[in-house]
Amino acid sequence: LNTQKSGVGVGVIGAGIMGADHAAILSRHVTGAHLAALCDADSERANRVAAECHAGKIYKDPAELIGEPEVQAVVIASPDHTHADLVLACLEADKPVLCEKPLASNPGECQHVVRAEMKHGRRMIQVGYMRRFDPTYQDMKRAMMRKGMGRPLVLHCIHRNPAAPGTTSDSVLASGAVHEIDIARWLLGGEIVHAQTWSPIPGGEDAVRDPQLVLLRSNTGALITIEMFENAGYGYEVRAEAVCEKGTVSLEAPADVRVRYAGSDSSEYPSDWRPRFALSYRNQLQAWVDGIVNGTSCGADAWDGYLATTIAHACIRSLKTGQGVEIKAETRPEFYR
Ligand SMILES: NC(=O)c1ccc[n+]([C@@H]2O[C@H](COP(=O)([O-])OP(=O)(O)OC[C@H]3O[C@@H](n4cnc5c(N)ncnc54)[C@H](O)[C@@H]3O)[C@@H](O)[C@H]2O)c1
Repeated sequence: LNTQKSGVGVGVIGAGIMGADHAAILSRHVTGAHLAALCDADSERANRVAAECHAGKIYKDPAELIGEPEVQAVVIASPDHTHADLVLACLEADKPVLCEKPLASNPGECQHVVRAEMKHGRRMIQVGYMRRFDPTYQDMKRAMMRKGMGRPLVLHCIHRNPAAPGTTSDSVLASGAVHEIDIARWLLGGEIVHAQTWSPIPGGEDAVRDPQLVLLRSNTGALITIEMFENAGYGYEVRAEAVCEKGTVSLEAPADVRVRYAGSDSSEYPSDWRPRFALSYRNQLQAWVDGIVNGTSCGADAWDGYLATTIAHACIRSLKTGQGVEIKAETRPEFYR
């Protein structure tokens, strides 16, 4: 456990599933930083996680954590609807911020954050699209770019959870599919210009539309399919396959242990996303801290966060109307190049 109070003092907002994980990674695995403070609206939770991770200070109000002098940078891991205001408060306090996805609840809020960062004049925001730091996605991208593979034509993405009690038809897209949208943009380059969403089971007014199938079109001509299945039952699984002009690249669900027994061959699926992406979260936090120390930026920026949310909301509109939705391809501002 890193109990040395050296390096960048990081404050974590939210001590739920993700905040507790980020706090643990900061206190155990990240070099050049320490967990200076932790905050949660639920004091009991904050106390428990702070004790486990040796957080220096504990707060209930995020504004106090952001204002704490020992906190030099902030990780936001509170619910989606809190993100925009908290990111803006970090900008106001001139503190770099790693904000869990999505950047904000809707494209308008994201635009507001982007404008505020540009006005601030310096890159301060990274969005927690951690798959960009996942070694297998990095290998996939390298394989797709190898000489002779040709252009990517289709990218298939599969994203399944065993069960997701709190999700809504919209949050499947705004909070879940955003991972697939971001990684598709990162793998393929180009911009998404069209979205259509289907769901096989009509359900009633209140029924969550699950699974959902999204078809996106990129301005490179490539097509992307995304299957989001929140209540798939058997376990957590993320897979992808890129179909290129001269070959294909598959990202399988990694299975560390395989059992051959009594005439069968089996492997286990995790019950959620954490084991699958444990290394990505670690790499992401280390790269973020290194960037703060070196004055560089990496990962998904606020512009990427804005586009992921814009595309997800086009998917939501399509699900509601049954029509395809055009998305204007916007030029990345100079500030984000
Ligand atoms: N990158 C990923 O793979 C990934 C995975 C899951 C969740 N997330 C994102 O991480 C965020 C947190 O998700 P979670 O699963 O940890 O949720 P969670 O419900 O487990 O935890 C959220 C915590 O925030 C606290 N909280 C609520 N409002 C607050 C406020 N205003 N100030 C301080 N604390 C507040 C709650 O008490 C709770 O402890 C969400 O935005 C979610 O979309 C990202």
